Amino acid sequence: MDAALALIGEDLKNVELQFKKDLQSDVPLIRKVGEYVLSSGGKRIRPALVLLAAKLCGYGGDRSVPLASVVEFIHTATLLHDDVVDNANLRRGQASANTLWGNEASVLVGDFLFSKSFSLMVADGDLNILKVLADATTIIAEGEVLQLVCTSDLDITIERYIDVVRSKTAILLSAACEVGAILGGATPELRQALADYGMDLGIAFQLMDDTLDYTASEEQFGKSIGHDLEEGKITLPLIHTLKLCSDEERDLVASVVEKELLSDEDFEQVLALVQRYGGIEHTIESAREHVVLCKGHLAKFPAGPVREALAELADYVVTRVK
Ligand code: IPE
Ligand code: IPE
Ligand code: MG
Ligand code: MG
Repeated sequence: MDAALALIGEDLKNVELQFKKDLQSDVPLIRKVGEYVLSSGGKRIRPALVLLAAKLCGYGGDRSVPLASVVEFIHTATLLHDDVVDNANLRRGQASANTLWGNEASVLVGDFLFSKSFSLMVADGDLNILKVLADATTIIAEGEVLQLVCTSDLDITIERYIDVVRSKTAILLSAACEVGAILGGATPELRQALADYGMDLGIAFQLMDDTLDYTASEEQFGKSIGHDLEEGKITLPLIHTLKLCSDEERDLVASVVEKELLSDEDFEQVLALVQRYGGIEHTIESAREHVVLCKGHLAKFPAGPVREALAELADYVVTRVK
């Protein structure tokens, strides 16, 4: 990640300044909640993708910073809403906004960030970029709803699960890359290659997130461990386990998933099964396969430090602990 950050470090600093500017509102609660989430230590992967993709396509103008900021606004809005939907109390190692200000404030400030993003895109004035990000935002909402209807469904297929992952997470990483490609005036082929890079990166990213939900240290991850299970989210480590385990073991998983609250013992029992049937290794392996695909899409671009940085970012995704 270091090489990537060195290339765009200055721009990323400007993205931080841009957020602050774009958050201005006469309503103090918006600034308060917005600043709290935006300054709580996100990894800024999506803005980094806009900046690196733009650079890879030879863009050197002044629109990449504001658009990178817009993409992080959209991401932040989805997190505010997602933590309400997921009943999450911890985000980036701190109390989530819904814990501090309530669900109402989180939903409404999330709405503000979404709407503001669209105003900022209109101000930028590029209909192609507006289309990419508007479509991505719609697909994210579809992904979150699709996931909702799959809650506690032990029969969820891997295909359906991957559909959710593409929609709720990967599409925004893909769109971030595509925005960079559009800024750089890339050919349709190269624009597609960057969109595909972002999609495979995003899938690997969410697969690792779902692994970390079982295996991470809460302190490093900054989110509650076992929370997917508690919320009835049947993710790949468990889907793989359910394919292989006995009927009795499946019944045990079903009884844990149905409970409102997950005890430490419930979690340990399910984790032991997931480990016994190789659910963690399988998911990490699947993430690695997506990283290979992801890096493959970069082959269409000439070798150089920016391409190298994007390849490094892909490797980082499967080694991250937060
Ligand atoms: C969190 O994304 C939501 C998922 C797609 C898993 P990030 O892990 O990129 O969140 P921050 O912005 O770095 O906190
Ligand atoms: C990630 O959702 C995608 C969105 C926020 C739209 P998750 O619910 O899987 O991610 P975390 O674990 O809350 O970060
Ligand atoms: Mg969540
Ligand atoms: Mg969620």
